[in-house]
Amino acid sequence: MAKLIAGLGISHSPGMGTEYDKSSHGTNFPPEWQVWFDGTRALHDAIGELAPDHVFVIYNDHLNHFDLDNYPTFALGIGDRFRQVDEGFGLRPIEDLEGDPGWGVHFAEELVARDFDLSICHNMAVDHGILSWMAYVAQPPWPFTVTPLAVNMIRQPMPRPQRLVTLGRAIGEIIRARPVDEKVLVVATGGMSHQISGGRFGLANPTFDRWFLDQLGPNAERLFDIPVEEYMRVGGTEAAELTMWFAMRVALGDKVDTLYRFNTFPKITGCGAVLLAPRAPEGVLQ
Ligand SMILES: [Fe+2]
Repeated sequence: MAKLIAGLGISHSPGMGTEYDKSSHGTNFPPEWQVWFDGTRALHDAIGELAPDHVFVIYNDHLNHFDLDNYPTFALGIGDRFRQVDEGFGLRPIEDLEGDPGWGVHFAEELVARDFDLSICHNMAVDHGILSWMAYVAQPPWPFTVTPLAVNMIRQPMPRPQRLVTLGRAIGEIIRARPVDEKVLVVATGGMSHQISGGRFGLANPTFDRWFLDQLGPNAERLFDIPVEEYMRVGGTEAAELTMWFAMRVALGDKVDTLYRFNTFPKITGCGAVLLAPRAPEGVLQ
């Protein structure tokens, strides 16, 4: 059976990607982004050691592939390639993602069987929601295939946090139920604190970001009970994207170990990451 080996929560931002490109692939960052690059080296090494075969990514599109005429609550990509979408500044010098339709169809069938009403996309393009952080944690050519699940975090009504908890439980079950000998990493990406519109433009809260990273592993239930409006009040409106991290956390099971956490605030958006590993029940050898 497939094995869910770890979960990664990580923030994304357009600048994270373009700064990587300008840095000559990690060799020459401005000081504020050097901190982020240095802080993600441990993730890069850990994920290299974990060597996942497949990565399931819960993220949000930013009106780059989808538009407001038809904005799905959940959209699953099942193609064999996920090309980069042009976000208005031309294409970045970064490789597209390789899909695995075997995994994609498995997720589609099993999520619909659990009453998740999905948009199922054969030709989904992805934006900085995935491609901005990818080069910080893995080296191209990407050493794993990817299944992306886009969640509406753009307009009301957004899915309730509890819906993402339910989604995460299903994702964990679905991964562990597939009869293949593969290792799977679950990633949720969004946030952290930031606000990119209105009178509070530029608001971020690194102290809140740190607290969230500390709590997600051992005290996730507390986070689930906080109204999303409170995340938006404390961390800016786009901090609502942190609710997607709940799905990753729940997919791992009741108990987890926090392997690494890190956050900084380079510009506009609080940047952070946490790597979690499922803890085997007492007496069960991994
Ligand atoms: Fe975002």
